[in-house]
Amino acid sequence: MYGYYLSQAYDKYWSRFSKRIAPVIYTFYKNEPVSKRNKNLLDLCCGTGQLACYFSKRRFNVFCLDRSMHMLNCTQKNLKKIINRGSVNFINADMVSLATSSCFGLVVCTCDSINYIANKKSLHHCFQRVYSSLISGGVFIFDMQTPYGINKKAKEIEIIDNDEMYIVNKQEFNGDNVGRIIITGFVRDANGLLHRFDEKFINKAFELKSVFSCLQNVGFQKVLITDESLQNQSVNLETLEWAYIVAKKI
Ligand SMILES: C[S@@+](CC[C@H](N)C(=O)[O-])C[C@H]1O[C@@H](n2cnc3c(N)ncnc32)[C@H](O)[C@@H]1O
Repeated sequence: MYGYYLSQAYDKYWSRFSKRIAPVIYTFYKNEPVSKRNKNLLDLCCGTGQLACYFSKRRFNVFCLDRSMHMLNCTQKNLKKIINRGSVNFINADMVSLATSSCFGLVVCTCDSINYIANKKSLHHCFQRVYSSLISGGVFIFDMQTPYGINKKAKEIEIIDNDEMYIVNKQEFNGDNVGRIIITGFVRDANGLLHRFDEKFINKAFELKSVFSCLQNVGFQKVLITDESLQNQSVNLETLEWAYIVAKKI
């Protein structure tokens, strides 16, 4: 699960999503009253830490959580390359069994990482833990592929082909809103040798209605289903391929 070679490829080719969304989340949070008194960010499934770098440069105390030690190692390297203005913390754990104290104004989970959660029970557990880790006024922001989006992408294949790596990334659709991501690749090391890796993940798309009620059930009083602007409630939920959710603890 996100072994060494995939972590190298991810850092190079797939971290652009979090680089793009980081300023949007930052601007959103800056306009929340809680941001005046709390600069603690919990980045769930932090990947290679691009979002954490963005916030760290802006005086946030960042807590980077990921289940993969290889991804956390990349995060650590990336955070070393910048001038950190807040404190930096690493947590090697599963987001479903997250255990932290209530000290965060902001919790994020980006680039459809919530879709790695296999079932509703675990989703509920994760949301419950996020809710308890937030202070009052705190915000949880995440994005996810919807059932509509996952069905639409069912036959998409992405190929990365250059001197450093050759990677095939495809998604198979199993029905019941569950996709299977299969990534096979070769990565070249410093001596020119190619290393093969194979990774498989379950990609579960929860119905937006059940995500909404799950967030409400754990206590979130305000839930907005929106797009990348994080501004307005999306109206056509049935045809939303990728949803952004903002949940607030009052
Ligand atoms: C698609 S990447 C997203 C990384 C980052 N959030 C971004 O925006 O680029 C998914 C990340 O989630 C992590 N992950 C997957 N399932 C997890 C779980 N149950 N608990 C913690 N981390 C998990 C993977 O190790 C990987 O780093």
